[in-house]
Amino acid sequence: MSFAKINYCVNMPVEIKEKGMAENKLQVLKDVTGSFRPGILTALMGVSRAGKTNLMDVLAGRKTGGYIEGGILISGFPNNQSIFARISGYCEQNDVHSSQVIVRECLISLHFSVSLRNSMTKKRRLKFVDEVMELVELHNLKDSIVGLPGVTGLSTEHRKRLIIVVELVANPSNIFMDEPTSGLEARAVAIVIRTVRNTVETGRIVVCSTNRETMSQDSLPSPHRRTQNSASLG
Ligand SMILES: Nc1ncnc2c1ncn2[C@@H]1O[C@H](COP(=O)(O)OP(=O)(O)O)[C@@H](O)[C@H]1O
Ligand SMILES: [Mg+2]
Repeated sequence: MSFAKINYCVNMPVEIKEKGMAENKLQVLKDVTGSFRPGILTALMGVSRAGKTNLMDVLAGRKTGGYIEGGILISGFPNNQSIFARISGYCEQNDVHSSQVIVRECLISLHFSVSLRNSMTKKRRLKFVDEVMELVELHNLKDSIVGLPGVTGLSTEHRKRLIIVVELVANPSNIFMDEPTSGLEARAVAIVIRTVRNTVETGRIVVCSTNRETMSQDSLPSPHRRTQNSASLG
């Protein structure tokens, strides 16, 4: 998929207006152009508040407010946003899971609810769920209870992978991940990245955002509310 000159504006927040800003609109994204390829991991890098989440929301068709300009092409054709949203998964930075469920059971029921209209047999359904759990290396925790963050059950790093697998059960062609590695220590980052790579290798379009503070400081552009540079995909 590719996108060109994406602009996104919102109505000026009252707090900023009260400080004497005359304009009625706040430009959040300005002329953002790029492309994502299947089977290749694309990272959106930038400081906090650079606009990464907003860009992914716009591209994934999740925005309900504001003013969007610019075009999105899928396989060379202008995108129908609703179709694109249907084939896209979106992993939020911090997701909310029910605490009292068991990992595998929860994924099976989710898979059932997202694929009601297809006539998959029970055996195939279970096989599919087991496959996606293996992809994110959660199969060892299939009988674990999700629990409460920081109190019981899965660790922060396991939860990050749970966010990914919850989206994967819907078998999306594209998957957006908002800061899948933020708040994790180095070893946990390596595991999450490995599972993200496994997902990429299934031939999906995978886009993840990453906070600049978690990357090497020298190799990255200085903070500014615009696209500073881009590198070849890989
Ligand atoms: N509806 C909105 N009202 C006010 N400000 C907004 C709105 N949407 C986005 N912004 C602004 O857009 C900027 C970028 O935010 P975001 O996409 O969350 O950045 P990132 O994900 O890179 O940390 C922030 O400075 C935020 O204040
Ligand atoms: Mg963000």
